This record gives sequence, C-alpha cells and structure tokens, in this order.
Amino acid sequence: MTRTLTPSPSRRGLRAISLATLTAVVLAGGVAATTAQAAGSTLQAAAAESGRYFGTAIAAGRLNDSVYTTIANREFNMITAENEMKIDATEPNQNQFNYTNGDRIVSWARSNGKQVRGHTLAWHSQQPGWMQNMSGSALRNAMLNHVTQVATHYRGQIHSWDVVNEAFQDGSSGARRDSNLQRTGNDWIEAAFRAARAADPNAKLCYNDYNTDDWSHAKTQAVYNLVRDFKARGVPIDCVGLQSHFNAQSPVPSNYQTTISSFAALGVDVQITELDIEGSGTAQADNYRRVVQACLAVSRCTGISVWGVRDTDSWRASGTPLLFDGSGNKKAAYTSTLNALNGGGTGNPDPGTGCTVTVSRANEWSDRFNVSLAVSGSSTWRVSIQTQGGQTLQNSWNATVSGTSGTLTATPNGSGNNFGITLYKNGNNNNPTATCTVP
Ligand code: G3I
Repeated sequence: MTRTLTPSPSRRGLRAISLATLTAVVLAGGVAATTAQAAGSTLQAAAAESGRYFGTAIAAGRLNDSVYTTIANREFNMITAENEMKIDATEPNQNQFNYTNGDRIVSWARSNGKQVRGHTLAWHSQQPGWMQNMSGSALRNAMLNHVTQVATHYRGQIHSWDVVNEAFQDGSSGARRDSNLQRTGNDWIEAAFRAARAADPNAKLCYNDYNTDDWSHAKTQAVYNLVRDFKARGVPIDCVGLQSHFNAQSPVPSNYQTTISSFAALGVDVQITELDIEGSGTAQADNYRRVVQACLAVSRCTGISVWGVRDTDSWRASGTPLLFDGSGNKKAAYTSTLNALNGGGTGNPDPGTGCTVTVSRANEWSDRFNVSLAVSGSSTWRVSIQTQGGQTLQNSWNATVSGTSGTLTATPNGSGNNFGITLYKNGNNNNPTATCTVP
C-alpha cells in the first residue's frame, strides 16, 4: 500500500519558472521549500503538484448519480466515506459486521485510482444501540474489538484512519468530552490507537476533531497537548485531522496557519479532513483561498478533503458550503481553491522578484530563545513571522520588526539580509515560521 501520494506523473502544466513566480515558504526547523506556480486544471492535479492530495466525502447512496460521480472522479483523489464506516454502519449488532456500503465506496475509489481515508473507528456519536447501552470494561473491550475488526477488514486499503473522533469538549475547559467511552478510563484514546496500529500497521493513524482550528481555543490546545503527550510516550499517532467546518459563528481563524504549523512541529502530519465553509460569492471564495494557502505554507499539511461534492450533498446544504452548486457547476470558491493550489504557498499574485527566508534556532534560555533569519534573493523584502501560541517578541536586531505576538513583520533597516529576534516562550518552545515576499 502506498501511504503517500506522488505528484502527478505529468508536470507538463508547469509554467516556465521565472523569478516573478517564485515565492518561498520556510517552515519550522529551518527547512526552506521553494514552490513555483504550476497549472493543474483539476483540484487533484493542482494539489498533486506540491505532493498533496485533494479529497471529498462520498455517500454510497449517491454513487448511482452520474453528475456526482463524474465530478468526484475528475476532481478528487482521496475519498472519505461520509457515514458508511462509522460504528453504527459497520457493527449494527455486536460482533456482526456489515461492510456492504463501506466496501462499495472503497471499491469505487480504488477502481478509479483513488486513496481512501477511514472515518471513524471510535466515537461517542453514531454508536449502535447495543454500544450506547454498554459501559465499563465490557464497553472498552467492545470498542477495542471494533477497532481491531474494522481496521483488519480494511487493512492495506486505507491511507489514514480517523482512529478517534471528537473526544474533547467545546468551550474553555480543555477537558475531555463526557461519554460512555471516556468513562471507561482516560486511556481509552491511546488504547484505540494501539489497537489500530496492530491491526493495520501501514495506515496513518489520526486524531480528528472540529473547533480545533483556532490556535487560541482551549480545545485546540487540549488536542495539541494530547498529541504532544502521545509523541513523548511513544503512543502510535501519525496525523491530526482538522475537520474545519466553518461558518459565521466559527469563521476561518486568522491564526489557522499557526495551528497547522504548531501541530506539524510535533512531528505529525496535518490533514484538513472535512472542510466546508458556509457562504457564497467572493467572501466564500476568499475563505477557501485562505484555508488552502495556510495548508500549502506548511510542508506537513499533506492534504485537504471537503465534506461533500455539491452544496446539495452537504450536511449543511442550506449554507451552500461546498465548491459545486446543486447542478454541479463550479462556484467562485472552486476557482479560488484551484488558483490557490496552483499558486504555491503564499498565493501572492506577483511578488516581483522572489525572496527566500530561512529560520534557524539560536541561543536559548529558560524563558526565551533567539531565532536567526536569513533572506536571499532580494535586498528589498518583507518577512512575515508567525510566532507560536503565547510567544511574544522581546528583542530584535538588524531589521525593523513590528508586532509583539501572532504575526510579526520584518523589513530591512540598512543592516543587510541577516537579522534576528528574541522570543519569550510563555510556555511554547516551538520555532516560529516565516515567509518572505518582495513588496
Ligand atoms: O440514511 C438515513 C435515511 O434512510 C433516513 O431516511 C434519513 C432521515 O432521517 O436519515 C438518514 O441517515 C442520516 C445520515 O446522515 C445520512 O444522510 C442520519 O439521520 C444523519 O444523522 C446522518 O448525519 C451525518 C452526521 O455526520 C451524523 O453525525 C451526516 O451525513 C455527516 O455528514 C456527518 O458527518 C460528521 C462527521 O462524521 C464528523 N464530523 C462532523 C460531521 C458533520 O456533522
């Protein structure tokens, strides 16, 4: 089984690389990646130019609709079953497994050359009646058996599993969500991950949740701490799924890229797993562009899936949150998504002559650390530095730096192209990320 997608075999669409189209993205850890504008004519082709996938949720009941399958086949190369692999669908009676609809989706995906995300093995919701009524060690064992059986059935066919879904509370508590699974003991999540790893060692194992897109939210921090703890203790986890269901009450946060880069800095992939953004026209198109650009700016953000094909297929149909209208026409949001996928990391339309910035860690003290930044490619530049949650600027040298937290902006002050900053950690010891543009 292939765990990562290779870029599309044909790069004929790659336009001539000129300095004018070069932008540079520098990621935590100081790895510089330079992207050139490329021209993919579908979402999957455009995403593949940077080695990423572009996916959608599919409902088995719509596989007979040829408008639906034509769009899905043309545009997407990663498929998630919207409901068909959930616990109530796959184990309707205890120890009686039903894979009919899940298999239909996997078979459609694989026969069309697509990969599959598995959704989801352990969740407080959409439990069959028999499981809802269980508790304690009987429930723990039933949950682990479910994880083992379903992951074994699909072994070798799943790119990534949402092993555990939505285990944290909304709001400011940062606590686990109360559920029958949580009441079996706080270690139920890691137990599920260990069972999934044993059943399908080649699938990437993800923790998936919503309202975890804003870096300042307690729920985001709680998931971050879970992942950090798992990585520290060797609990198998490979990825974090940001569902990314956005609307007026829950807009695309300004610090979305910080959330993605912060998770990535823990050593896991980030996948945007259920993207939909309510709205219409230019505003919606702009929000999709922002999401794509945030993902493309982080090398470990490896793919984006939208939660349905046409607006009318959506769980939030009245909010028209998807990329195709009910007739299957491409919306403005489709075009902005495609353009952003084709435009590389920053999406700046024409940055003039390009520049690159590398970030490297320097001196460190208990409460702060230094970061050295080196710009190449131009003597005029603007560097955007994204600090990680909580960090604040203490000092800077050899550049004019504005801002104190969140996004800092650096411009030349006559001292050349190498400059530095000191950041107070305030509890966060991760490196900032930086991007360079020529104003
Ligand atoms: O299939 C039955 C149909 O036979 C019946 O006539 C109809 C009328 O009630 O219901 C149909 O089942 C519905 C199913 O969607 C298929 O449309 C269920 O009632 C309904 O609860 C179910 O909703 C799904 C929801 O998860 C359940 O939690 C949505 O389709 C699905 O998009 C949504 O997906 C979730 C992710 O799994 C996790 N993240 C959030 C996301 C959105 O809520």
